Amino acid sequence: MLRTILWRDDKVAMIDQTKLPGTLEYVEYDDYKGVADAIRNLVIRGAPAIGIAAAFGMVLAARQSQAETLEDLLHDLNVARMHLGETRPTAVNLVWALNKIYDTARLSADPNTARTAVFDQALSMAEDDITTNKTMGRNGSQLFNDGDTIMTHCNAGALATVGYGTALGVIRATKDSGKSVQVVATETRPVQQGSRLTAFELMHDNIDVSLIPDTAVGYAMANRLIDKVVVGADRILSTGHVYNKIGTYQVATMARQHGIPFYVAAPLSTFDMESEPKDVVIEMRRSMEVSGPPGNRTAPEGINVLNPAFDMTPPELVSGIITEAGVATTPYVESIKKLFKANF
Ligand code: MRU
Repeated sequence: MLRTILWRDDKVAMIDQTKLPGTLEYVEYDDYKGVADAIRNLVIRGAPAIGIAAAFGMVLAARQSQAETLEDLLHDLNVARMHLGETRPTAVNLVWALNKIYDTARLSADPNTARTAVFDQALSMAEDDITTNKTMGRNGSQLFNDGDTIMTHCNAGALATVGYGTALGVIRATKDSGKSVQVVATETRPVQQGSRLTAFELMHDNIDVSLIPDTAVGYAMANRLIDKVVVGADRILSTGHVYNKIGTYQVATMARQHGIPFYVAAPLSTFDMESEPKDVVIEMRRSMEVSGPPGNRTAPEGINVLNPAFDMTPPELVSGIITEAGVATTPYVESIKKLFKANF
């Protein structure tokens, strides 16, 4: 299994996902601003992986700071928190991780204790990510049957987390429980996390996967080629509204049309229990991702482009939300509240 991000030789090392599927290599950072650029430019992506990258970014910021008092260190960490927090607005794990690290420093006695504490906290968050995904995988595996063909959209795998994955973690655990499953991955235009990352990751781990264009989702479902769908999430509200990669809403709507169960797998750190749909910022990305880069354009020069990175799937289209604390089902408000109560 791929390990997306780790700490080595006083630096953060991460797989450069912009080079996949052609080249599998790690890139290292010793400056928190470099980590922020890596998140913004999709060197690392996927909500849980972004959170852990930001946590290690804060460790670097604490080490880069010359502060001799806790107050000065907290000031420098706050600057880093704002800088890292501005990189991607939709994935809530980013804010969750930044606040967790900042609070760890705030509760320390002095700057050096704080530097050690934030480092320990980031390391344990990275290890917890894998444990959480494995538990989530086991919880979700019970929803899938031997012989199922499972559609997934985007990449919610090891590459979107520290390791193992959320939606792909459920698929891994289903397979590990002795059931045979096949995966259908959508390309996931415009950035192609499905063809570049999910197809690569599953083939790397010997999991049966086929690739379809996003436009073939209706065809595949109408022709009974899909038994179930599982995707990840960037943010889930207390009401069960799910924010995930652009196109997820289309997949969920099509699944409902054909009576196919549509599941979401995400850790509790992806839940935003405070916001309402009107508060959630959908990241708008560069038009070039859609119209093609200079020299390789696929649309005419000067065309207007709308490029939202995420969309919202309403709770009525979601058959269940798989978490490390159990599976939430409709009515989501009560069910999600129960999962949080049992876990905190
Ligand atoms: O733009 P990306 O590649 O960061 O978007 C990733 C997704 O939408 C994933 O499905 C989501 O973050 C869940 S990852 C476990």
